[in-house]
Amino acid sequence: MTLGRTEPEVRPSPRRAPALRAVGLRRRFRTAESEVEILKGADLVAEAGEIVTVTGRSGSGKTTLLALLSGFDTPDDGTVTFHGAPAGGIPWWVCAVLPQALGLAEELTCAENVALPLRLRPQPLPQPVDDIDETVADVLTAVGVAELADRYPAELSFGQQQRVALARAVAPRPSVLLVDEPTAHLDAASTDAVLALLRRVADEGAAVVAVTHDPAVRDVADRRLTLDGGVLVAD
Ligand SMILES: Nc1ncnc2c1ncn2[C@@H]1O[C@H](COP(=O)(O)OP(=O)(O)OP(=O)(O)O)[C@@H](O)[C@H]1O
Ligand SMILES: [Mg+2]
Repeated sequence: MTLGRTEPEVRPSPRRAPALRAVGLRRRFRTAESEVEILKGADLVAEAGEIVTVTGRSGSGKTTLLALLSGFDTPDDGTVTFHGAPAGGIPWWVCAVLPQALGLAEELTCAENVALPLRLRPQPLPQPVDDIDETVADVLTAVGVAELADRYPAELSFGQQQRVALARAVAPRPSVLLVDEPTAHLDAASTDAVLALLRRVADEGAAVVAVTHDPAVRDVADRRLTLDGGVLVAD
């Protein structure tokens, strides 16, 4: 995933490769005292149109896995492909992320944060500003924070900020959406809104991978995986 590069060609392979495929992912971290292998050959497939959940105890490597899937981090071994194409150079509007650390721009309002990926996206076919405003309003409404559009992130609760960050991730209509604990700070009504949005994104053709401890997210999944001992196993 790269910011500001020319969009690479992402052609579906003739045999309809999955939207996202990870094979044999390994990731080691070295600390002052020791080296520890967190991922030991993790495999994952997410097809277009499905929600895949990844659960696992705290510290098992879920966020590490998402960083490798999104291209924020590089595996020590293994591969990630999008529609059969290598992950290198996949831009953020093809693979979008809701990170566990939300990364909202503090100097921008909520609406400006959500509009940012739409405005930064290279525009061979420019998207009219009206459409951007409409898209921003649509996704903020979908997660129940439309009335906070003109506030700054510091003026929001963490759960509200989390929903703005999710709106920012889905606004460019990515074909792969990776979300880290999307309901961790939400009440039941907000959780329902977030789950409805994830389902909508999947129904529109994206592959959604959700890292979660929340049974409500697992309930809406099409495929459930657990990260245990550095590998992913089907539930
Ligand atoms: N850069 C790093 N250097 C050293 N160790 C790291 C690094 N990043 C992650 N780790 C270690 O890798 C392990 C997995 O971390 P990770 O954040 O992926 O866990 P997680 O499953 O997402 O946990 P949680 O459910 O608490 O969010 C942890 O033991 C963590 O300390
Ligand atoms: Mg985590």
